[in-house]
Amino acid sequence: MKAIVIDSFGGPEVLRAADVPAPGPGENEVLIEVACTGVNPVDWKIREGMLSGMFPHEFPIIPGWDAAGRVKAVGRNVKGFRDGDRVYAYCRKPKVKDGTYAEFVTMDHAAVAPIPENVGFAEAACIPLAGLTAWQSLFDAAKIGEGDKILIHAGAGGVGSLAIQFAKQAGAKVYTTARTANHAYVTSLGADAAIDYTKESFVEAVRKREPGGIDLVYDAVGGDVQTKSYEVLKEGGRLVSIVNVPSKEEARRYGVEASHVFVTPDGGQLRRIGALLERGAVRPPALEEMRLEEAAGAQKRSQAGHVRGKIVLKVR
Ligand SMILES: NC(=O)c1ccc[n+]([C@@H]2O[C@H](COP(=O)([O-])OP(=O)(O)OC[C@H]3O[C@@H](n4cnc5c(N)ncnc54)[C@H](OP(=O)(O)O)[C@@H]3O)[C@@H](O)[C@H]2O)c1
Repeated sequence: MKAIVIDSFGGPEVLRAADVPAPGPGENEVLIEVACTGVNPVDWKIREGMLSGMFPHEFPIIPGWDAAGRVKAVGRNVKGFRDGDRVYAYCRKPKVKDGTYAEFVTMDHAAVAPIPENVGFAEAACIPLAGLTAWQSLFDAAKIGEGDKILIHAGAGGVGSLAIQFAKQAGAKVYTTARTANHAYVTSLGADAAIDYTKESFVEAVRKREPGGIDLVYDAVGGDVQTKSYEVLKEGGRLVSIVNVPSKEEARRYGVEASHVFVTPDGGQLRRIGALLERGAVRPPALEEMRLEEAAGAQKRSQAGHVRGKIVLKVR
């Protein structure tokens, strides 16, 4: 099968097209014929070797964790999926080795879900990693609810595009940070107010509108942005980060709770997200489609940090 592989850590130039053996499904696995794969920041972080201490890995590595395509075969313990079914999955496995930048990928059936009929493969490939991250952060960790006021950092990104919509579904009031060029986009997703973080302090912008502080911050940027975010929270507020692990001391100093989320594969939650997509309550992020062979260019764009929505690689 055709695939993109890396033989060592390094810059985008280490990504190369290759012909490699196709995998077969283990007894609990689904073999997916990949139509489209999503590009995520974690892909270039792995390629650079930044996460080599975090994930066991073995070269050559096929990058990529998001797959949308059709079931090609199933293992003998797998029920509920048939050849030809349209499915998507967040394909993170115990070892970084056989990813989704390829014509075929296998994944445990518990992580796989059907793609709603009204969603195409490219749109579906935007959802698993980013959607599960937003879901697990807002609903499982932050326990977002009706009337909560939330600041979502990087609302125009892959995770942010879905987090804004999930927060609105939960009945929250959403502030988000994005450059002015993305304000029409984030408000079209439901954000109540957009703050251009390059032009004004997000702390002042939020405090001006909400002098008593807000309930939640969703941190998809980290560093200084995380540290400053405590200043917009009211006492008893919550900060959830998907970037660096927040300091417990800092959180205690502000009288807030702070936690970190690392997304896990979950086919059940993907079905729930699918139900929202199916009834049009949530729409896929804006997307730009590139060819699988353009993986290096796609990762460079991702690494530059200003993709609106998602980049998707078309495999077939
Ligand atoms: N822990 C986990 O499980 C997990 C899961 C998914 C992602 N992540 C991490 O979370 C981060 C976001 O992921 P993603 O997929 O959403 O990334 P992404 O799609 O690449 O995010 C790009 C967006 O970030 C915005 N942005 C860049 N700098 C910003 C800043 N200083 N303030 C506000 N917005 C800014 C850009 O908007 P503008 O062009 O308007 O600036 C752009 O639209 C990444 O570091 C990723 O690795 C972690």
